[in-house]
Amino acid sequence: MSSFFDCVVSLDADSPLNDSISDENENHVVDLTLEAYRTDDGQPFILPVVREALLEYAKSPYGCHDYLPILGHVLFRDSAMKLVLGEDSRAIKENRAAGIQCLSGTGTLRSGAEFLVQVLHLDTVYISNPTCHTQFRIFEKSGFKSIKTYSYLDQMSQSIDVTQMIRDLEIAPEKSVVVLSACAHNPTGLDPSRSQWKEIFQVIKRRNLFPFFTVFDQGLASGDLDDDAWAVRYFVKMDLEMFIAQSMTRTFGLYSSLVGNLTVVARTSTFMSQIASQFTCVNVSKFSNPPAHGACIVKSILTNQDLKIQWKNSLKTIYERLKDVRDKLISWFEKIKTPGHWIHLKQQKGLFLSTGLNSIQITYLLNNYGVRILDSGCLSLSGLNTQNVEYVARAIDAAVRQLQ
Ligand SMILES: Cc1ncc(COP(=O)(O)O)c(C=O)c1O
Repeated sequence: MSSFFDCVVSLDADSPLNDSISDENENHVVDLTLEAYRTDDGQPFILPVVREALLEYAKSPYGCHDYLPILGHVLFRDSAMKLVLGEDSRAIKENRAAGIQCLSGTGTLRSGAEFLVQVLHLDTVYISNPTCHTQFRIFEKSGFKSIKTYSYLDQMSQSIDVTQMIRDLEIAPEKSVVVLSACAHNPTGLDPSRSQWKEIFQVIKRRNLFPFFTVFDQGLASGDLDDDAWAVRYFVKMDLEMFIAQSMTRTFGLYSSLVGNLTVVARTSTFMSQIASQFTCVNVSKFSNPPAHGACIVKSILTNQDLKIQWKNSLKTIYERLKDVRDKLISWFEKIKTPGHWIHLKQQKGLFLSTGLNSIQITYLLNNYGVRILDSGCLSLSGLNTQNVEYVARAIDAAVRQLQ
């Protein structure tokens, strides 16, 4: 008998590498593809302030189990928006900025993308090359007809290629959406300088493009929340309209709570209620009411000065560990004289590091050393620690020497 499912074909999984690992290395896998933060012991980091907020909710008479409004927790949305735009943001004061609670970074991009297609009828989106692989799926499934990439990484120098990025955006059709990482670019760790952001702003304005910022690691690029929001705030100050997707998964360690916020910035307050009603429609058909748990915890922290200071201290701990392990890896390359130029990788920021390894070297690394990195040649520093950093450096060294 035939099956309803007999037309179903497999799709490539959204996982970085499926190559087999030799038996010898099976027990020695170093996974450097993980997007979640891990401590130096390889454990998840439960932020003390998050635990404290959680216990307070557990003790409160109603906890946080009731339905939230469809657009989410009002104080959460408000505090998330202030975090990215700044407490004194003119856009907030003029009521032309609003937060919409969505589902983590992925779901926030998805809700925003659906709005852009269904309500604004935009159909072309530009994504950085390389990017976090899920972005293609998100924009495709949201109904974008044309998904293009703009240059970002110069493979030869392993530095950011803003000149080529601007050339690519210069020929983008008007009203294309441009997805921009505000800080700690995933997966290269490369961010434009302030003067480069100004050049990027110019082309976006000149070509009438729509910026869709991702702010998924605020505080982890420079160690400072305001510095990491500089590009977004500059674009707002220069009067551009935009979407800003915020994820609180990594910055609060709330991976499974799906905490995300979409900040909408418009030129005037005229259309804000219409925008909110359209988002009600987008979100109600996806999840009805967003999850309360993580949003309540984030709200408690961001609206209490003492808790916020504790949270900033934990962010600093994460920032410093990532910086430290990045520096250690680079020092090993220097020490063992790995062919190539490595010192400038210190300029990369946040969770990721771009190695410049090619696909043959990546496969060699996995098959011979059990070290798994992303297929873009980038790696997540999360899985790197004082125990394995020398091993990883020597493995990369071998891959580079064997397959130059
Ligand atoms: C750049 C980037 N980082 C991270 C993520 C995943 O974020 P989250 O785990 O908050 O859904 C995505 C999802 O598309 C992304 O595009």
